Amino acid sequence: MVNLFFKTYGCQANVADSQSLENYLISLGNVQVVENENLADLILINTCAIRDKAEKKVSSYIGQLAELKKNKTYLNIGVIGCMASYLKKEILTRFDHVSFVFGAKDDLNILKDYLHDLVLKLETIKEIYAHEQVHEQVHEKDNKVKFELKRLKKIINSKNVINNKVKELSDLSLGGVKNKDKELKQSFINIMTGCNNYCSYCIVPFTRGREKSYPSNILLDRIKRDLDLGVKEITLLGQNVNSYKDPVTNNGFEWLMEQVANLTGEFWVRFVSAHPKDMTIDLLKVIADHQDKLCTFIHLPLQSGSNKILQSMNRTYTIEKYMEQIDWVKKILPQATITTDIIVGFPGETEQDYLMTRKIIEQVRYDLIYSFIYSPRKYTKAALMLDNCSNEEKNKRLQELQTRQMEICFENNLLTVGKTFKTLVEKRLANGKLLARTKGNLRVLCDSKDELVGTFVKLKIKSAGRANLIGSLIE
Ligand code: 5AD
Ligand code: SF4
Repeated sequence: MVNLFFKTYGCQANVADSQSLENYLISLGNVQVVENENLADLILINTCAIRDKAEKKVSSYIGQLAELKKNKTYLNIGVIGCMASYLKKEILTRFDHVSFVFGAKDDLNILKDYLHDLVLKLETIKEIYAHEQVHEQVHEKDNKVKFELKRLKKIINSKNVINNKVKELSDLSLGGVKNKDKELKQSFINIMTGCNNYCSYCIVPFTRGREKSYPSNILLDRIKRDLDLGVKEITLLGQNVNSYKDPVTNNGFEWLMEQVANLTGEFWVRFVSAHPKDMTIDLLKVIADHQDKLCTFIHLPLQSGSNKILQSMNRTYTIEKYMEQIDWVKKILPQATITTDIIVGFPGETEQDYLMTRKIIEQVRYDLIYSFIYSPRKYTKAALMLDNCSNEEKNKRLQELQTRQMEICFENNLLTVGKTFKTLVEKRLANGKLLARTKGNLRVLCDSKDELVGTFVKLKIKSAGRANLIGSLIE
């Protein structure tokens, strides 16, 4: 058996990619997932390049693995994903213990074949080592074994840049089912890949390539298969799901959501991310018409409350248009949870621009925001813009924004006390509580039995904290 350890950084697209790759490797029959790096024969690291901080985290992790390779010479370490898309040579040069790199926009069919071969070789070399019960010295007389070991060691310790343009859609591109013991079965489906928006700060169009939607018949077949496997929650993923277009029929995202909602069974559907530049009222109407299945959870990245900054970010919408969309959500889906992404300290952002973002936070009263300090990225337009705001000022803005948002979260959460929600139970947490989520993705903790994991239950909210609600079961 080959022991696999998977480390995933970054967004849900990476989670989906790692899951499909892990499922594929397990399906080979001679691979098992292990809980920590020390036990692994093969370590795969799915990387994120969105901000410098993310990259530093990944690099530090890769660096720490050098010791393991020293102790187990046949250990194979593969770096995949967004960093591997544009830093292939740098990664191999900087980290001598990395065996191969494979980028997020490369052809998964090639990686599939490469890993298939690699796993066979790892299995053989492991067997030889185990047989001889020594690491380096194979029995002198057994020249055949010695030769084979040498050959395999050479292959396994070679360094590879797997670099191939996508020729045809691989089944691995569609994502995969997370099927962990005693946890809710979740399916992550990539309905598209890449991005054409070229927001001036963002590296994604360079690491994941041009936007490409996958055919809806293939997606719907995959979703049906996952439902047959017992999946209760499906997340449809794309950098900009609103611009999904079936390459055969030209049908859009609203149509796709309706088709998914019309499939039989009791399940929930989520999606991320929408883009305000082409979010439609029709999508909200489709969700309203299918609330039994389509979750009332809208993640609408704002980025900035200032039109000047939005323009410089190349977001192609105005704050007025954004607020109109928020009004649609509040009217058509009054119970929806609304979340967003915000960047502070973008080049040229003045105190006044920042205060406009603060004002939007007060007006929308988001349930959650993901907020970041702007990080200059290679290849992007914003990296060339004049940035004269100090780090101290940027940190101050971020801190203030997050502190205020935490208060708003708490105030929003308090409004749920006394209400009853249909929830889907995800898993038992280390603190002994069951974790369930509402359609709006709010976390509800409750005391109950393991059998409820993966089922829909009604919970009445007894109290609320900043991050969690506490609920009790309604029979
Ligand atoms: N610096 C800071 N935040 C960024 N994001 C994307 N690129 C950058 C960057 N260069 C944020 C955006 C995006 C989220 C996924 O990450 O808010 O919506
Ligand atoms: Fe990046 Fe903008 Fe594309 Fe989102 S829409 S992935 S922020 S370029």
